[in-house]
Amino acid sequence: MSTPVLSEKFYAQMKKLEPRYPNKVALLLPALHAAQDELGWLPPAAIGAIGEYIGIHPAQVKEVASFYTMYNLKPVGKYHLKICTNVACALRGAEGVVAHCEKKLGIKVGETTPDKKFTLYEEECLGACGTAPAMMLNNDYVENLTVQKMDEVLAKLN
Ligand code: FES
Repeated sequence: MSTPVLSEKFYAQMKKLEPRYPNKVALLLPALHAAQDELGWLPPAAIGAIGEYIGIHPAQVKEVASFYTMYNLKPVGKYHLKICTNVACALRGAEGVVAHCEKKLGIKVGETTPDKKFTLYEEECLGACGTAPAMMLNNDYVENLTVQKMDEVLAKLN
């Protein structure tokens, strides 16, 4: 018998959430979040396990997961930098910050460093336009980005 891809904790969390939703299909987004929190990304086996739990085809799970940029369908580094380059952030220098990260980390947008420490993405509006440029560092916001601030943030990550 193969080891389940998702933990007992995941299934316990889903059981706890179930009464709050009209049906199991409505649990899809929380299930994707919980699985990603647990695994760091959503491998095909997790997509399959979620589909089985919810009672829908894995292709439907993948279709939803691929619609949202917050779900990782491929492995990401320990630190996932998602820098917004939408209008407000672009006007305040986001592209320069992205270029700086590419040079400093030695990777292009969409890539992960060979040591699996950093993944760099560009992101659409993060809803933090008032404090642009903004990025998500894993699940946390970092706002009012500058090249200098990015250097300070990167220096604290180990
Ligand atoms: S445009 Fe970047 S947070 Fe809105």
